[in-house]
Amino acid sequence: MRFNTRVLFHIPDLTIGPNDAIYLKGANGVGKTTLLKILAGLLKPSSGVITPKHGGFLNRLWSGAGRKDVIYLHQSAYLFDGTVYQNVVYGLKHRRQNAHDKRADVIAALRLVGLETLADEHVSVLSGGEKQRVAMARAWVLKPSILLMDEPSASLDQESIERLVTMAQDLLDLGSSIVVTSHQANKLTTLCRKQWWIKDCTLIESPLLQVIDKSDINQSTINQSTTKQANTNQESTYAATSAD
Ligand SMILES: Nc1ncnc2c1ncn2[C@@H]1O[C@H](COP(=O)(O)OP(=O)(O)O)[C@@H](O)[C@H]1O
Ligand SMILES: [Mg+2]
Repeated sequence: MRFNTRVLFHIPDLTIGPNDAIYLKGANGVGKTTLLKILAGLLKPSSGVITPKHGGFLNRLWSGAGRKDVIYLHQSAYLFDGTVYQNVVYGLKHRRQNAHDKRADVIAALRLVGLETLADEHVSVLSGGEKQRVAMARAWVLKPSILLMDEPSASLDQESIERLVTMAQDLLDLGSSIVVTSHQANKLTTLCRKQWWIKDCTLIESPLLQVIDKSDINQSTINQSTTKQANTNQESTYAATSAD
Protein backbone atom coordinates (compact mmCIF):
# COMPACT_ATOMS: atom_id res chain seq x y z
CA MET A 1 0.00 0.00 0.00
CA ARG A 2 1.36 3.39 -1.01
CA PHE A 3 0.26 6.91 -0.11
CA ASN A 4 1.67 9.22 -2.78
CA THR A 5 5.31 8.13 -3.04
CA ARG A 6 5.48 6.64 0.46
CA VAL A 7 5.22 2.85 0.70
CA LEU A 8 3.35 2.08 3.90
CA PHE A 9 3.62 -1.69 3.65
CA HIS A 10 4.22 -4.42 1.13
CA ILE A 11 2.35 -7.64 1.88
CA PRO A 12 2.78 -10.30 -0.82
CA ASP A 13 -0.30 -12.22 0.36
CA LEU A 14 -2.40 -12.93 3.40
CA THR A 15 -5.51 -14.95 4.13
CA ILE A 16 -8.23 -14.85 6.75
CA GLY A 17 -9.55 -18.38 7.10
CA PRO A 18 -12.84 -19.54 8.63
CA ASN A 19 -12.95 -19.12 12.40
CA ASP A 20 -9.60 -17.32 12.53
CA ALA A 21 -8.91 -15.05 15.52
CA ILE A 22 -6.07 -12.71 14.64
CA TYR A 23 -4.29 -10.09 16.71
CA LEU A 24 -2.96 -7.40 14.36
CA LYS A 25 -0.24 -5.52 16.16
CA GLY A 26 2.31 -2.86 15.35
CA ALA A 27 3.44 0.56 16.48
CA ASN A 28 1.31 3.66 15.85
CA GLY A 29 1.35 4.69 12.23
CA VAL A 30 2.53 1.38 10.71
CA GLY A 31 -0.74 0.92 8.86
CA LYS A 32 -3.04 -1.28 11.01
CA THR A 33 -6.11 0.85 10.32
CA THR A 34 -5.21 1.11 6.65
CA LEU A 35 -4.93 -2.69 6.35
CA LEU A 36 -8.29 -3.24 8.07
CA LYS A 37 -9.95 -0.71 5.77
CA ILE A 38 -8.48 -2.48 2.75
CA LEU A 39 -9.78 -5.82 4.04
CA ALA A 40 -13.20 -4.26 4.63
CA GLY A 41 -13.27 -2.90 1.07
CA LEU A 42 -13.34 0.70 2.33
CA LEU A 43 -9.95 1.51 0.82
CA LYS A 44 -8.53 0.33 -2.45
CA PRO A 45 -4.97 -0.98 -2.22
CA SER A 46 -2.54 0.87 -4.50
CA SER A 47 -1.88 -2.50 -6.09
CA GLY A 48 -3.08 -6.02 -5.48
CA VAL A 49 -6.54 -7.49 -5.04
CA ILE A 50 -8.90 -8.64 -2.34
CA THR A 51 -10.65 -11.91 -3.07
CA PRO A 52 -13.64 -12.87 -0.97
CA LYS A 53 -14.14 -16.61 -1.36
CA HIS A 54 -17.51 -17.93 -0.40
CA GLY A 55 -17.83 -21.64 -0.71
CA GLY A 56 -20.79 -23.79 -0.04
CA PHE A 57 -24.50 -23.67 -0.43
CA LEU A 58 -25.15 -23.07 3.28
CA ASN A 59 -22.99 -20.01 3.29
CA ARG A 60 -24.74 -18.48 0.28
CA LEU A 61 -28.08 -19.27 1.85
CA TRP A 62 -26.99 -17.46 4.99
CA SER A 63 -25.84 -14.47 2.93
CA GLY A 64 -29.26 -14.34 1.35
CA ALA A 65 -30.77 -14.15 4.82
CA GLY A 66 -29.14 -10.78 5.38
CA ARG A 67 -25.72 -11.89 6.57
CA LYS A 68 -23.20 -9.12 6.05
CA ASP A 69 -19.86 -10.69 5.40
CA VAL A 70 -17.16 -8.26 6.50
CA ILE A 71 -17.77 -5.58 9.12
CA TYR A 72 -15.27 -2.93 10.12
CA LEU A 73 -15.73 -1.63 13.64
CA HIS A 74 -14.34 1.88 13.76
CA GLN A 75 -12.02 2.96 16.55
CA SER A 76 -14.55 5.52 17.78
CA ALA A 77 -18.07 4.21 17.32
CA TYR A 78 -19.84 5.66 14.31
CA LEU A 79 -23.52 5.98 15.23
CA PHE A 80 -26.31 7.89 13.54
CA ASP A 81 -28.77 10.35 15.05
CA GLY A 82 -31.35 8.14 16.77
CA THR A 83 -31.99 5.87 19.71
CA VAL A 84 -29.87 2.93 20.80
CA TYR A 85 -32.53 0.56 19.47
CA GLN A 86 -32.76 2.33 16.08
CA ASN A 87 -28.99 2.14 15.67
CA VAL A 88 -28.89 -1.61 16.28
CA VAL A 89 -31.99 -2.52 14.25
CA TYR A 90 -30.70 -0.45 11.32
CA GLY A 91 -28.37 -3.22 10.21
CA LEU A 92 -31.31 -5.61 9.90
CA LYS A 93 -33.43 -3.42 7.63
CA HIS A 94 -32.78 -5.53 4.52
CA ARG A 95 -33.14 -8.83 6.31
CA ARG A 96 -36.10 -10.97 5.33
CA GLN A 97 -37.33 -11.43 8.86
CA ASN A 98 -40.52 -10.39 10.58
CA ALA A 99 -40.52 -7.37 12.88
CA HIS A 100 -41.02 -9.51 15.98
CA ASP A 101 -37.91 -11.62 15.28
CA LYS A 102 -35.87 -8.53 14.46
CA ARG A 103 -36.88 -6.98 17.75
CA ALA A 104 -35.95 -10.17 19.60
CA ASP A 105 -32.48 -10.15 17.95
CA VAL A 106 -31.90 -6.51 18.85
CA ILE A 107 -33.00 -6.99 22.45
CA ALA A 108 -30.75 -10.07 22.75
CA ALA A 109 -27.81 -8.01 21.45
CA LEU A 110 -28.54 -5.13 23.81
CA ARG A 111 -28.81 -7.56 26.71
CA LEU A 112 -25.41 -9.03 25.83
CA VAL A 113 -23.81 -5.58 25.91
CA GLY A 114 -25.77 -4.61 29.04
CA LEU A 115 -27.73 -1.80 27.40
CA GLU A 116 -31.28 -3.16 27.21
CA THR A 117 -32.54 -0.58 29.71
CA LEU A 118 -31.16 2.20 27.51
CA ALA A 119 -32.81 0.94 24.30
CA ASP A 120 -35.01 4.02 23.92
CA GLU A 121 -32.36 6.57 24.86
CA HIS A 122 -30.86 8.83 22.22
CA VAL A 123 -27.25 7.83 21.53
CA SER A 124 -26.03 11.35 22.32
CA VAL A 125 -26.52 10.72 26.06
CA LEU A 126 -24.25 7.64 26.09
CA SER A 127 -20.66 7.49 27.29
CA GLY A 128 -17.88 6.60 24.84
CA GLY A 129 -17.78 3.02 26.13
CA GLU A 130 -21.56 2.63 25.79
CA LYS A 131 -21.43 3.95 22.22
CA GLN A 132 -18.77 1.39 21.37
CA ARG A 133 -21.02 -1.32 22.85
CA VAL A 134 -23.93 -0.14 20.64
CA ALA A 135 -21.67 -0.38 17.57
CA MET A 136 -20.63 -3.88 18.64
CA ALA A 137 -24.27 -4.91 19.18
CA ARG A 138 -25.10 -3.65 15.67
CA ALA A 139 -22.27 -5.75 14.25
CA TRP A 140 -23.20 -8.81 16.32
CA VAL A 141 -26.83 -8.98 15.10
CA LEU A 142 -25.52 -9.25 11.55
CA LYS A 143 -23.37 -12.30 12.42
CA PRO A 144 -20.56 -11.32 10.01
CA SER A 145 -18.18 -13.89 8.56
CA ILE A 146 -15.38 -11.51 9.49
CA LEU A 147 -15.40 -8.78 12.14
CA LEU A 148 -12.53 -6.30 11.98
CA MET A 149 -12.12 -4.46 15.30
CA ASP A 150 -9.88 -1.39 15.18
CA GLU A 151 -8.33 -0.56 18.58
CA PRO A 152 -11.59 -1.55 20.28
CA SER A 153 -10.32 -1.21 23.82
CA ALA A 154 -8.35 2.01 23.40
CA SER A 155 -10.48 4.17 25.69
CA LEU A 156 -12.91 1.71 27.21
CA ASP A 157 -13.74 0.97 30.83
CA GLN A 158 -13.37 -2.57 32.15
CA GLU A 159 -17.07 -3.46 31.84
CA SER A 160 -17.22 -2.37 28.20
CA ILE A 161 -14.13 -4.41 27.35
CA GLU A 162 -15.63 -7.47 28.99
CA ARG A 163 -18.92 -7.02 27.08
CA LEU A 164 -16.98 -6.78 23.82
CA VAL A 165 -15.04 -9.93 24.72
CA THR A 166 -18.32 -11.82 25.33
CA MET A 167 -19.71 -10.78 21.94
CA ALA A 168 -16.51 -11.50 20.06
CA GLN A 169 -16.31 -14.93 21.71
CA ASP A 170 -19.92 -15.62 20.74
CA LEU A 171 -19.16 -14.78 17.09
CA LEU A 172 -16.14 -17.09 17.21
CA ASP A 173 -18.33 -19.87 18.63
CA LEU A 174 -20.66 -19.36 15.64
CA GLY A 175 -17.74 -19.80 13.24
CA SER A 176 -16.99 -16.15 12.43
CA SER A 177 -13.45 -14.81 12.16
CA ILE A 178 -12.16 -11.75 13.98
CA VAL A 179 -9.20 -9.45 13.57
CA VAL A 180 -8.37 -7.20 16.52
CA THR A 181 -5.85 -4.38 16.24
CA SER A 182 -4.12 -3.00 19.26
CA HIS A 183 -0.72 -1.59 20.02
CA GLN A 184 -0.75 -3.61 23.26
CA ALA A 185 -2.19 -6.94 24.44
CA ASN A 186 -5.51 -6.86 26.31
CA LYS A 187 -8.52 -9.07 27.08
CA LEU A 188 -9.71 -8.97 23.49
CA THR A 189 -6.36 -9.91 22.03
CA THR A 190 -6.20 -12.93 24.37
CA LEU A 191 -9.08 -14.43 22.32
CA CYS A 192 -6.70 -14.53 19.35
CA ARG A 193 -4.79 -17.59 18.23
CA LYS A 194 -2.77 -16.02 15.46
CA GLN A 195 -0.71 -12.86 15.24
CA TRP A 196 -0.08 -10.47 12.38
CA TRP A 197 2.68 -8.00 13.09
CA ILE A 198 3.26 -5.05 10.77
CA LYS A 199 6.93 -4.24 11.09
CA ASP A 200 9.53 -2.84 8.73
CA CYS A 201 6.82 -2.22 6.11
CA THR A 202 5.77 -5.86 5.91
CA LEU A 203 3.54 -8.31 7.75
CA ILE A 204 4.87 -11.17 9.83
CA GLU A 205 2.42 -13.95 10.66
CA SER A 206 2.89 -16.27 13.63
CA PRO A 207 0.81 -18.43 15.99
CA LEU A 208 0.05 -16.65 19.23
CA LEU A 209 1.38 -18.51 22.25
CA GLN A 210 -0.84 -18.12 25.27
CA VAL A 211 0.38 -18.23 28.85
CA ILE A 212 -2.18 -20.32 30.73
CA ASP A 213 -2.12 -21.65 34.24
CA LYS A 214 -3.24 -25.10 35.37
CA SER A 215 -6.62 -24.00 36.70
CA ASP A 216 -7.42 -22.56 33.25
CA ILE A 217 -6.67 -25.95 31.67
CA ASN A 218 -9.03 -27.76 34.07
CA GLN A 219 -11.71 -25.16 33.49
CA SER A 220 -11.36 -25.36 29.72
CA THR A 221 -11.72 -29.17 29.83
CA ILE A 222 -15.03 -28.72 31.62
CA ASN A 223 -16.12 -25.97 29.24
CA GLN A 224 -15.29 -27.95 26.13
CA SER A 225 -18.16 -30.32 26.69
CA THR A 226 -20.62 -27.47 27.11
CA THR A 227 -19.38 -25.05 24.48
CA LYS A 228 -21.46 -24.65 21.37
CA GLN A 229 -20.06 -26.52 18.42
CA ALA A 230 -18.27 -24.06 16.14
CA ASN A 231 -19.88 -23.86 12.75
CA THR A 232 -17.53 -26.08 10.81
CA ASN A 233 -19.73 -25.84 7.73
CA GLN A 234 -18.54 -22.34 7.13
CA GLU A 235 -16.24 -22.38 4.17
CA SER A 236 -15.70 -18.69 3.74
CA THR A 237 -12.13 -17.53 3.45
CA TYR A 238 -10.75 -14.17 2.57
CA ALA A 239 -7.55 -13.61 0.73
CA ALA A 240 -5.59 -10.55 -0.20
CA THR A 241 -2.66 -10.44 -2.53
CA SER A 242 -0.53 -7.48 -3.31
CA ALA A 243 2.24 -6.71 -5.67
CA ASP A 244 3.00 -3.40 -3.98
N1 LIG B 1 -5.54 8.78 3.07
C1 LIG B 1 -4.26 8.91 3.47
N2 LIG B 1 -3.40 9.67 2.76
C2 LIG B 1 -2.11 9.78 3.14
N3 LIG B 1 -1.57 9.15 4.20
C3 LIG B 1 -2.39 8.39 4.94
C4 LIG B 1 -3.76 8.22 4.61
N4 LIG B 1 -4.33 7.37 5.53
C5 LIG B 1 -3.35 7.04 6.40
N5 LIG B 1 -2.19 7.65 6.04
C6 LIG B 1 -0.91 7.52 6.76
O1 LIG B 1 -0.56 6.16 6.81
C7 LIG B 1 0.08 5.88 8.04
C8 LIG B 1 -0.57 4.70 8.72
O2 LIG B 1 -1.82 5.08 9.25
P1 LIG B 1 -2.75 4.07 10.02
O3 LIG B 1 -3.15 2.98 9.09
O4 LIG B 1 -3.84 4.89 10.63
O5 LIG B 1 -1.76 3.50 11.14
P2 LIG B 1 -2.06 2.73 12.50
O6 LIG B 1 -3.50 2.35 12.51
O7 LIG B 1 -1.14 1.56 12.53
O8 LIG B 1 -1.72 3.68 13.62
C9 LIG B 1 0.06 7.15 8.85
O9 LIG B 1 1.32 7.78 8.74
C10 LIG B 1 -1.01 7.97 8.20
O10 LIG B 1 -0.76 9.33 8.30
MG1 LIG C 1 -5.10 2.82 13.75
